Amino acid sequence: MSMSDELKAIINSTLDLPPMPLVANRIVSLTSDPDTDAKILGRAILADQALTANILRIANSSFYGCIRSINNIASAIVLIGFKGIKALVVAASLKSFYRRVDLTEKMLWEHSIGAAVTAHLLSKKLHCYTEEAFVGGLIHDIGKSILNNQKNEIFAEIMQTSYNNGLPFVEIEKEFLGFTHAELGGVIIRKWNLSTTLEKAVTYHHNLEDIDSSDIDIQKFTALLDLTNKICAYLGIGYRQPKEDINFEEQRSVQILGAGGLDFVDLIEEIKAGYEAEKGNF
Ligand SMILES: [Fe+2]
Ligand SMILES: [Fe+2]
Repeated sequence: MSMSDELKAIINSTLDLPPMPLVANRIVSLTSDPDTDAKILGRAILADQALTANILRIANSSFYGCIRSINNIASAIVLIGFKGIKALVVAASLKSFYRRVDLTEKMLWEHSIGAAVTAHLLSKKLHCYTEEAFVGGLIHDIGKSILNNQKNEIFAEIMQTSYNNGLPFVEIEKEFLGFTHAELGGVIIRKWNLSTTLEKAVTYHHNLEDIDSSDIDIQKFTALLDLTNKICAYLGIGYRQPKEDINFEEQRSVQILGAGGLDFVDLIEEIKAGYEAEKGNF
């Protein structure tokens, strides 16, 4: 049994992995089918009113970054393309995934929006733009949300222990559960048939150095999520308090991304403003 099979077995025996929301599942598989044209795709999206509205709202948020305003699904498909639509559908369906009933869930949702905005902006600044950056930010901690929903007491204990001892969250998760929220996230992304890039990047977003892929795009995307997470931590987005002692210039992710020349003070201000402006739109 390989490590990942073993891990998968532990995760599967501990939790009920939720399916991807049905309509998103259908659209994700349609976008991967070479016989699907824009008409078929458009019809499938329009069949779900809430999804249609969410896609248009996200596509038109200043952070999704389309210059022209998009007021119907047909032009959204033309402007953003199949890959972009797939990312938007996943993003829109994740919204319903977070129940936001308790404070932890609310913090997790805020963190995921902050991360989506950050990853999207960073990928543009660093000229490694991909439609998946936004979804990557949004989904990177989905494992935490599942743990909070299904193992609420253990999850609360993990959070408290990590907070009290000042130890990394993933270390406490390993100790308590045998796996981390990042590994759990990777397993879910695979189950949902999203891309290998997303799967690897989410799995390794807390341990960049262990990534088992030599693909440079995957390594960069993982570094993007690592840096995104650290920027959100610095700003305190989804954290109890800001973590202001992060030295960005010396991060490994910054090296991998060739981002040493970025003005982090400016960048962080820009992200903060963007997050504040956009968070209500999701
Ligand atoms: Fe994480
Ligand atoms: Fe995170």
